[in-house]
Amino acid sequence: MYLQPDERTKTIREAHVVMRRIGTELVRDKKAAVMRELNDQNGGVEKKDVLGRDLLSLLIKANMATNIPDNQRLTDEEVLAQIPTFLVAGHETTSTAAAWCLYALARNPRAQQKLREELLNAQTEFPSADELAALPYLDNVVRESLRLHAPVAFMLRGAEQDDVIPTSEPFVDRNGETQNGIRVGKGNRVIMSILALNHSTEIWGDDALEFRPERWESPPADISNIPGVWGHMLTFSGGPHACIGFRFSVAELKALIFTLVRALTFEFAADPEDVTSVGMFTQRPALRSEVKKGTQLPFFIRPYVPA
Ligand code: HEM
Repeated sequence: MYLQPDERTKTIREAHVVMRRIGTELVRDKKAAVMRELNDQNGGVEKKDVLGRDLLSLLIKANMATNIPDNQRLTDEEVLAQIPTFLVAGHETTSTAAAWCLYALARNPRAQQKLREELLNAQTEFPSADELAALPYLDNVVRESLRLHAPVAFMLRGAEQDDVIPTSEPFVDRNGETQNGIRVGKGNRVIMSILALNHSTEIWGDDALEFRPERWESPPADISNIPGVWGHMLTFSGGPHACIGFRFSVAELKALIFTLVRALTFEFAADPEDVTSVGMFTQRPALRSEVKKGTQLPFFIRPYVPA
């Protein structure tokens, strides 16, 4: 039986066609620019046209490098397939993380002001990645925000074969039997909750659901057992499929917060209790009372004027 696609499926298909058209144009233009840069060393092409340090230009240049074997080169189709990854895996996650960090700072004006004082004491307006990494309270704020408001809430896996997932401690199942692992059957889907671990009171203590950047001055010893790729948490996952962009993302987040919080103050323009999260893969802020309006986080944003 042939089923007519519903409205949502139609919208998604149309969006794919548009993304493909724009992506193809982008790849074609960037590739042509790189070719011009390679062929025309003697002028004619301005440096600014071709020396872009954006992700796509770098990928195309790396892919055209003469010192990689042809069988390791991506086809244009494969280069194109990276664009949705940059957008969803790379852009939306970090922008959502920045929104939640500002949410946490608006809920905690003392932490916001303490952070601002550290940032205003920095010797530069345009810090390097190393200078950003050396700011201790900024580091604590970003860690705490990425723990409490991890933008990706869970991961999905499918079992390729019957197996047993070992648990750290024995537990009693619903039949009253003690188990040392959880049995999964071939084809079962497994949800791994990032938020459950990041919010566990057993690990983080009774104040696990509070935003307290100071906890990172002496974090719980047990967290060193958590197999996350960053910060002893699962925010960026762990193992062979861990996030490839975590260093970039943390540096980007710090740069954003540095610039915004030095210059501006953030205060809620809605009831903070009304804020909830929506979305499947990324948890974006929205208002419970206006959930149909989609993602939003209303703030009063004012220039910072020292008292
Ligand atoms: C705050 C920002 C980010 C968060 C919270 C985040 C989180 C995650 C998580 C939890 C995974 C594992 C998903 C799974 O195993 O099912 C993942 C994978 C991935 N991330 Fe990120 N990510 C962020 C930023 C980025 C950035 C900036 C990039 C690229 C520029 C990126 C690229 C990827 C890619 C390509 C994968 C798949 C890796 C693989 O399966 O081998 N992410 N990310």
